[in-house]
Amino acid sequence: MKNKILVTGGTGYIGSHTVCELIGQGYQVVIVDNLSNSERFIVDRIEQITGTRPAFYEFDLKDAAKVDELFDKEPDIKGVIHFAASKAVGESVKIPLTYYRNNLTSLINLLESMSRHGVQNIVFSSSCTVYGQPDKLPVDESAPIKPAESPYGYTKQVCENILRDTIKSEGGNLHGIALRYFNPIGAHPSGLIGELPRGVPNNLMPFITQTAYGIRQQLSVFGDDYNTPDGSCIRDYIHVVDLAKAHIAAIDRMIGGKNKTDFEVFNIGTGNGYSVLEVIKSFEKVSGVKLNYKITGRREGDIEQIWADTTIANNELCWKAQLSIDDMTLSAWKWEQNYRKQL
Ligand code: UFG
Repeated sequence: MKNKILVTGGTGYIGSHTVCELIGQGYQVVIVDNLSNSERFIVDRIEQITGTRPAFYEFDLKDAAKVDELFDKEPDIKGVIHFAASKAVGESVKIPLTYYRNNLTSLINLLESMSRHGVQNIVFSSSCTVYGQPDKLPVDESAPIKPAESPYGYTKQVCENILRDTIKSEGGNLHGIALRYFNPIGAHPSGLIGELPRGVPNNLMPFITQTAYGIRQQLSVFGDDYNTPDGSCIRDYIHVVDLAKAHIAAIDRMIGGKNKTDFEVFNIGTGNGYSVLEVIKSFEKVSGVKLNYKITGRREGDIEQIWADTTIANNELCWKAQLSIDDMTLSAWKWEQNYRKQL
């Protein structure tokens, strides 16, 4: 049995897939989640997939005393993968203080408690949103951080800085890796876990699968007049299972002492950009379902196009995304159908 890893937000979309990969690699996993945007049954599903039930604590990381208590109860945690955060761009514009309180306080509490308990390694969920619309594509890690488009995006920038400053102050006792995710989509090949948006989805992939299933009437494609080959926006979509594997590579790197500096940042994408219309085409091809969509106006705050330069992640983490856009759309569809059937 390998080391024990604490996964915050471990019942969430990316968290649950990462927990499965960790268990598959022989790690012992402890999950903490307040279930604010996920469901308890995900713990059962993780057990179904992996044959192992991870330890599960239900509480909010804003409660510093509970965070301390957790590290007391689980004294041999070797590293933390920190997913737990509020993540809806639009909502963050409406309730910015909730976003600042949730995302910053949770990280601060974790770091303070980690320091008190001698836990030295943390992987942080960051986002390509920190780059805004990059001047140069593909975007690499040295690209300037642009003024944030939303309070959510700003929390990612500030959290990276909180980590950087804290790591510096710890003089070698704390190591961190921030993974800047591009656009995670898709689901576990088992069809047992996947993205589970509450209410009307904000993101493209769940909106596509819900429309195909008949839950939404029509998908709106937000603009076809961008300066891209087909006029719709371009993103670097990455399969959530590939993304999950990047976290194992990051935690292994720090535990194995292979990190080059105490704080490192990696882009996690495929390196390929796909337009909204190309994602729809892939979905229609793999599912055989004709999607009801219409082109509408642009969505406020959308950037035109972004995709990753993943050279550093490929070389340093010895990790590379393997799965194709068709794998992503097909697995998302399988998950949507499985999930709806059992409701
Ligand atoms: N889109 C549509 N119709 C929809 C939903 C989305 O056309 O109903 C389009 C968007 O305009 C965009 C693309 O699909 O061009 C992807 O949109 P998503 O909302 O799925 O993803 P975003 O790129 O806007 O946002 C994602 C994450 C954020 C993160 C950001 C970083 O949701 O958390 O990437 O750029 F900050």
